[in-house]
Amino acid sequence: MVHRRQVLVGSLALLGLGIRPAWADTQRLELTAGFTVPPLPYPYDALEPVIDERTMRFHHDKHHAAYVNALNAAIAKHPELIGQSVEQLLQNLDGIPADIRTAVRNHGGGHYNHSLFWESMRAPRPNNQPTSTLATVLQQKFGDFANFQEAFERAGLDVFGSGWVWLVGQPDGQLGIMTTANQDSPISVGATPLLGNDVWEHAYYLKYQNRRGDYLKAWWQVVNWPVVEQRYAAWVQTV
Ligand SMILES: [Fe+2]
Repeated sequence: MVHRRQVLVGSLALLGLGIRPAWADTQRLELTAGFTVPPLPYPYDALEPVIDERTMRFHHDKHHAAYVNALNAAIAKHPELIGQSVEQLLQNLDGIPADIRTAVRNHGGGHYNHSLFWESMRAPRPNNQPTSTLATVLQQKFGDFANFQEAFERAGLDVFGSGWVWLVGQPDGQLGIMTTANQDSPISVGATPLLGNDVWEHAYYLKYQNRRGDYLKAWWQVVNWPVVEQRYAAWVQTV
């Protein structure tokens, strides 16, 4: 039905009739309204040499796009969900129709986690650390910044298979390090992600091969701490 309608609209346009029935826009909205891959906030090679340009191109243009496409395909089966943000979907997985719940969890999570990830990075710089209140809070929580980094890296290394390592604001008002499997997202369990590193092999394998630990260690150079500090400040307002 959809294809016939598209052909009809296309045919009318070709004939130069300029006829555009009202349902055409509605139908088009149902087909195309949805999620899109946000552009990178920097060039593909901006994170070199920590993350190479080729990895960024594949990761952003192919992997993230695949999550978005699959999420849109899932939502198209339940148009009543159109209009919900990806956050709303992930925060209420139990309310998602059973036939697309896993798809929304995996691909919605993939879209949300990666969108957060791109914004969490910037061009590498030496001695890259937070400088505001977050620095003090991390020091109080972990002893010093190096201890925090070590705990974060260890958690990332301990993820079996594919997943993420996160610094989160916990529901109890404390900061914490957590990991998620696959594309599960902290917001589905009530935590607020402040910083996350992707430890799927697609994030590092071209440059680091099996050396996930080297990737985790090098990654600190590209963390966009001002963005993380903004997230922290916003989360503090909610607890
Ligand atoms: Fe990824």
